[in-house]
Amino acid sequence: MKNILCIGAGYVGGPTMAMIASKCPDYKVTVVDINEERIDAWNSDDLPVYEPGLLEVVKAQRDKNLFFSTEVFKGIEEADIIFVCVNTPTKTFGKGAGRAANLQYCEITARQIREHAKRDIIVVEKSTVPVHTSKVIGQILSSGDPKYKFEVVSNPEFLAEGTAIKDLNNPDRVLIGGRPNGTGKAAVDELAKIYAHWVSEERIIKTDGWSSEMSKLTANAFLAQRVSSINSISALCEATGADVENIANAIGADSRIGAKFLKAGPGFGGSCFKKDILNLVYLCESFGLQEVADYWEQVVKMNDYQQNRIVSKIMKSQFNTIAGKKVLILGFAFKADTGDTRESPAINIVKQLADEQAEIVICDPKAISNAKLELIGVENVSYSEDPYDAAKNAHLAVLMTEWQEYKGLDYQKILTSMEAPASIFDTRNVLDHEDLFNLGFNVYPLGKKPLIQ
Ligand code: NAD
Ligand code: UDX
Repeated sequence: MKNILCIGAGYVGGPTMAMIASKCPDYKVTVVDINEERIDAWNSDDLPVYEPGLLEVVKAQRDKNLFFSTEVFKGIEEADIIFVCVNTPTKTFGKGAGRAANLQYCEITARQIREHAKRDIIVVEKSTVPVHTSKVIGQILSSGDPKYKFEVVSNPEFLAEGTAIKDLNNPDRVLIGGRPNGTGKAAVDELAKIYAHWVSEERIIKTDGWSSEMSKLTANAFLAQRVSSINSISALCEATGADVENIANAIGADSRIGAKFLKAGPGFGGSCFKKDILNLVYLCESFGLQEVADYWEQVVKMNDYQQNRIVSKIMKSQFNTIAGKKVLILGFAFKADTGDTRESPAINIVKQLADEQAEIVICDPKAISNAKLELIGVENVSYSEDPYDAAKNAHLAVLMTEWQEYKGLDYQKILTSMEAPASIFDTRNVLDHEDLFNLGFNVYPLGKKPLIQ
């Protein structure tokens, strides 16, 4: 039995390794992290990450061939293959602050692997990293004349939160990049062998390490670009009376464009899109490609614009005075089916409304504890598990996250308990606007005409 170690038990490390353990009974999979609380949670029924279907997979494998531990060095000593799944956040200090990736956690991990290895190891770079990182990691691993050989391969992760189990179970592709020599190719094949337990051969793409690293940043940039593109059109729709959903339908029917990722909304959130585009922008600037950098930076600027635009719309609907008015926020997670609030558009929007001295009540089925952390120090914010209770005496409701349960609320009951005139902003276009209007709401969809009583 071969030993797989994963360093980093976060949103990627935990679900990815649970899937590998479930599909590969011939491997022992250990996931380690320096965060003891997280590891304890992985060993309980209250996992640190909410993902539909994840608990079932973890429970089926845990303590059979899936283990969670804080013993990083012991894990390294026993490992044949190590996945590096540590965080690579945007740098907040020094050169490249606000843009470049902070690779300190990757580097620490590489040094620890070099020091504690007890055999030759394949090091799999799963964290999202700038192009050439595999070379740097390779240099760190081979410095100081180590006893063992290390081969670094790039294997970026494409799962989306909320659908992680589905995505891992049936990936569009698995991408593996390595050095184009004998040992590089052998390591790529060794990793491909693991995925081949459940992914068909034609979906396993083998390439060189640098292209693999850059494919990940490029994929996220292209996806985020589509969101910003449709959001830009939503602004034009509101100005002209066209309907952004009709436009998305019409253009999505063109097989060259495709129907996915054309949903206008409050802007992309999540830990990846903004960070990875800014990282791409920084890379372009570092190589003197200013025009290319400016092109991609516009995707992030459009995302900020969309959030600011929603706040302006809310203010205008409230006669530009929201001080002292109660605002019900439905959903704080950056998308449905996750408790993750990193870069959620709701953060920016709530902060701006709080600055205007609105009284804000936030509801979310899974993200309340993370919301509290995001909004530390922000005044006039409270939280509720119960949307009906939270709606009492509110002047307006803003649906921020497309949770299934918010589509089925009793909006008549909510309207009755709100102040008149009651307004509802559906930033995801998931509610029945006609119905809400008929109940008596002023309805503000996104990228289409408002329905005002
Ligand atoms: P995360 O912050 O949820 O998890 C990272 C974990 O690594 C943390 O628990 C942290 O304690 C641990 N860690 C850091 N340094 C360590 C060390 N030296 N030893 C042991 N543990 C250490 O991050 P995440 O969302 O899982 O993302 C991880 C990587 O995967 C990032 O590069 C991210 O860009 C990429 N990625 C994320 C997603 C996603 O949906 N979240 C999808 C694809 C790729
Ligand atoms: C993304 C990538 O999709 C995934 O491949 C990568 O591995 C990690 O980053 P994630 O951020 O988890 O995944 O979710 P995703 O479904 O991509 O949504 C990102 C953001 O874009 C969310 O805030 C979502 O609400 C928004 N979005 C997405 C839209 O506003 N409209 C759309 O049509 C699609």
